[in-house]
Amino acid sequence: MNPFINALNWRYATKQYDTTKKLTAAQVDSLIEASRLAPSSYGLQPIKLFMVTNPAIRAKLRAAAWGQSAITEASHLFVFAVPTSMTEKDADEFIALVAKVRGMDISALKGYSDMIKAAITPRTPAQRTEWAARQAYIALGMLLSSAALQEIDTTPMEGFDPKQFDEILGLGKLGLTSVVLAAAGFRDSKDAYIGMKKVRFPKETYVTEVK
Ligand SMILES: Cc1cc2nc3c(=O)[nH]c(=O)nc-3n(C[C@H](O)[C@H](O)[C@H](O)COP(=O)(O)O)c2cc1C
Repeated sequence: MNPFINALNWRYATKQYDTTKKLTAAQVDSLIEASRLAPSSYGLQPIKLFMVTNPAIRAKLRAAAWGQSAITEASHLFVFAVPTSMTEKDADEFIALVAKVRGMDISALKGYSDMIKAAITPRTPAQRTEWAARQAYIALGMLLSSAALQEIDTTPMEGFDPKQFDEILGLGKLGLTSVVLAAAGFRDSKDAYIGMKKVRFPKETYVTEVK
């Protein structure tokens, strides 16, 4: 079978982690890299990833996430955050990077820049944040998938209070808000969810071929 599909069947949203097993630095880097390489609309990458290693802060975050144990017991905790006020400046910053990386003159990128700005400006600040959050979910998916391919367990989590997370992590003053989490580590052999059958609607009801 396809190794990627095997990995996706192997993974599950891990509920109980083995606190004695930690990711290596190389594994951590690979997860970060997989999410950093995620595609995003126009390539804008409106995402900041916070890796929380401070145990006291993780304890506070757990209290703001319905006490979910993965927050403190998984080897690593990642918080995906997005800007609360994307502006044309974000487009300028990205265009400057494109010019630098590809050795181009900024003026040659004016059409591209205008196109991005035309996508940003008609949206309300809330719509911009929502738009950015959609990109964060792609990065989350990349992190989860790359973890599965390496037999690293993960838990995607939306069950937390973003307001409290933003406060605890000081995201507000950075113009950011938290959207989704990923815990990563290694399953505890006592996790009741190990080996549970995957529940997915069948392909027949999922896919529609439009001929
Ligand atoms: C965006 C998102 C948010 C989720 N939030 C939580 C969560 O807060 N806590 C949790 O235990 N699982 C959470 N899950 C895991 C789902 O419940 C799980 O992915 C789903 O039941 C399918 O099971 P599987 O991932 O084990 O195949 C979340 C999943 C996603 C994609």
